[in-house]
Amino acid sequence: MPVRLEGVTAWRGAVGGPNGRRRSRFTRSRQRRSSPPPTVEIGVRSRRGNPARARMRAVNGRILMQIGPYRIEPRLILAPMAGVTDKPFRRLCKRLGAGYAVSEMTASNPQLWETRKSRLRMDHDGEPAPIGVQIAGADPQMLAAAARHNVEHGAQIVDINMGCPAKKVCRVWSGSALLQDEVLVEQILRAVVAAVKVPVTLKIRTGWHRDHRNGPRIARMAEDCGIAALTIHGRTRDMHYSGSAEYDTIARIKQSAQIPIIANGDIDTPEKARAVLDYTGADALMIGRAAQGRPWIFAEIAHYLTTGEKLPEKSAAEVGRILVGHLRELHAFYGEHAGVRIARKHLGWYAKDRPENRAFMTVVNQAQCANQQIELAQQYFAQLERAEPAMQRAA
Ligand SMILES: Cc1cc2nc3c(=O)[nH]c(=O)nc-3n(C[C@H](O)[C@H](O)[C@H](O)COP(=O)(O)O)c2cc1C
Repeated sequence: MPVRLEGVTAWRGAVGGPNGRRRSRFTRSRQRRSSPPPTVEIGVRSRRGNPARARMRAVNGRILMQIGPYRIEPRLILAPMAGVTDKPFRRLCKRLGAGYAVSEMTASNPQLWETRKSRLRMDHDGEPAPIGVQIAGADPQMLAAAARHNVEHGAQIVDINMGCPAKKVCRVWSGSALLQDEVLVEQILRAVVAAVKVPVTLKIRTGWHRDHRNGPRIARMAEDCGIAALTIHGRTRDMHYSGSAEYDTIARIKQSAQIPIIANGDIDTPEKARAVLDYTGADALMIGRAAQGRPWIFAEIAHYLTTGEKLPEKSAAEVGRILVGHLRELHAFYGEHAGVRIARKHLGWYAKDRPENRAFMTVVNQAQCANQQIELAQQYFAQLERAEPAMQRAA
């Protein structure tokens, strides 16, 4: 169906601003590239010797990260995000440079396994290995059964969620709320590790309260229980997403850990990634929100870690192509009706720093069918593409 862009002609006019002086994200990023790379300071701490480092093999100067039998290369992981890291997004991030991606959490309650939502979350058809599935719950035996069930449905790594602060999750004493009950944590870890032959990993916060950062104790317990790798989000549960992630606790845990440690929280640029790796000595990084609308961030970070140089900013045409491919996958995976609606938040993320994004979102959110949504997205990015030379001249 042909789509007219009535009401959004401002896209064209406003790109570059009424007098050509408005700076878009494109121009800002291009300016950034011509200036010296910014430095990211996290704290003053030198890299210390670390016994766990001996467990990481270096080949051609590259440090290799392994979870059980699976090599994670590059050592950049897409964080589990409920409502975001579905199969289409995981596949896209893996294609664009993530070494590994963890699924959205799946419920441990068997009554929920047969819902359409759970079935889609357990669908790993066509997903590149290793397939990581996160489970959430508070009952050790139910979690053990959930781990077995997911392994039967293709999970090659099982991750236990003790990091999520969402009310819905914590109300039932799971996610990061579990960190308050260390006895229960141990029971869960032992039950799940014993239940499956695949590697079991754990995701935690630094503690359940800023005055009770028991992450280091939980880390030791995890190691004793046979956990294969530990992800730490550098916030406590009571912080939710406020303030900034801190990396001292992660560095402290890494110093004595014998299992791979994955640092997480607020990693949103290649420079920050380099700084967090250096500061914590972590074996890998996990990235969540910064991948929303920017799934190629993994390739950007990987390139920077290897070469010390930044990749050029993606052109509007390239971003448009990635977005349209993503939309098509969402429509195919969820079906047209649900797919079009689920795609809206991704559209918002892809467009969030682009010129006239509000006008674009107002129009594209009215699209009711897949073709219309794709066509509107294509038209918007085509307009941005045509405007790019003017924007570069204005920069
Ligand atoms: C929308 C959203 C959903 C999330 N869902 C989960 C989840 O299901 N399981 C989990 O362990 N963490 C979950 N998280 C937390 C992320 O995995 C990650 O730890 C957090 O966002 C910090 O990383 P970041 O600063 O790179 O985003 C979620 C975060 C967001 C923003």
